[in-house]
Amino acid sequence: MYKLIGPITQLLTLDKVPLKGALKDEQLEILENAGILIEDEKILEVGNYNDLLAKAQTLNTEVIELKGDFVALPGWIDCHTHICFGGSRAQDFAMRNAGKSYLEIAEAGGGIWDTVIQTRNLSQEKLAERTVTNANRHLSEGVTTIEVKSGYGLTVAEEIKMLRAIQEANSETKADLIPTCLAAHMKPRDFEGSKEAYLQEISEHLFPILKSENLANRIDSFIEQSAFSPKEIESYYQKASDLGFDLTVHADQFTTGGSEVAVKFAAKSADHLEASTAKEIALLAKSDTVAVALPGASIGLGCAFTPARKILDQGGSLAIGSDWNPGSAPMGDLITQASILATFEKLSTVEVLAALTFRAAAALGLEDRGKLKAGLLADFNLFSTHDFREILYHQGKLKPEQVWKKGNKI
Ligand code: NIG
Ligand code: FE
Repeated sequence: MYKLIGPITQLLTLDKVPLKGALKDEQLEILENAGILIEDEKILEVGNYNDLLAKAQTLNTEVIELKGDFVALPGWIDCHTHICFGGSRAQDFAMRNAGKSYLEIAEAGGGIWDTVIQTRNLSQEKLAERTVTNANRHLSEGVTTIEVKSGYGLTVAEEIKMLRAIQEANSETKADLIPTCLAAHMKPRDFEGSKEAYLQEISEHLFPILKSENLANRIDSFIEQSAFSPKEIESYYQKASDLGFDLTVHADQFTTGGSEVAVKFAAKSADHLEASTAKEIALLAKSDTVAVALPGASIGLGCAFTPARKILDQGGSLAIGSDWNPGSAPMGDLITQASILATFEKLSTVEVLAALTFRAAAALGLEDRGKLKAGLLADFNLFSTHDFREILYHQGKLKPEQVWKKGNKI
């Protein structure tokens, strides 16, 4: 089945834009009076609308004619979320604003552990339901691919429950959910034994189930004082890497150390990086690990932003994720957060658009999306405007008029 959508005032392919380094808006490929020809789930061709219309007449094509100005962009990709969780952490938010730090709250038994308790109290079905609700809100705002982490179960059985809930949610939402195992979020307070013993238990008993049930192909960890040290994570990552898992790291959020592990193990991404110094920035910029900024966590905690400008200027690849989670980043509005990061870090429009599309796809190891190009998934957004710059200018308030996922209008 073929579909043709157009005419589109500006179609931004995001093609021919490099994976790494700083970008200027002049590097954007903008097709005017354009169309998108779709075959089933994929893009057959993007190009001049009139040429595609002529071609459409030779194929059995449904023509979806647009009236007025539209800008087309690849579907947004959120490469870092924790949208599968139970309960709320409004109490932490109030405590932080009254002067307690995120790490102090964690040490006192709140923080992530609080969400673990509230998540363990929910059934798999309830968790799946909540994940679908969050995913569908994201999808309605144009986020067509959403990474989702476990990490609030923290036993073999509870992590399996979370990942099965994410799998179930994936079959119930039209967005693509990409699962990541974050059993190394912290050592659970009810585990009797060392951090090494906990990680040993996870790698020995959970990793094989992730493979056999196809629950996740990505392993994440939180390298931080309140969680795991680089040394504790290294043997865990070695095992994960030997088994063929992709790796990612919560790195350099409050203290450094995580990004070095990410680069050493050729992780797909190193995320957070608010505390990265010149040394970590240089290391990341030289590597193939995508640096992921999470402005939602900076806004949620009132901390510095990831040094995105420096990372790009030194030649690194930068993606932006929402980090949507109940603790540090409850807002979950990816475009608002990316627009705010852009104003503080002085990012060009194309740097932000790349960070939300094909560079985010690279952070997830996905090659089938993130650009509007023949052969890739027909995931795209249509904004009712004549100028692509309007989108970030409105800081998230200009929502897509139409969201298309795998060739279907949502
Ligand atoms: O990415 N930093 C660690 N993990 C999450 C927060 C999780 C939570 O506070 O519940 C993050 O910010
Ligand atoms: Fe996170």
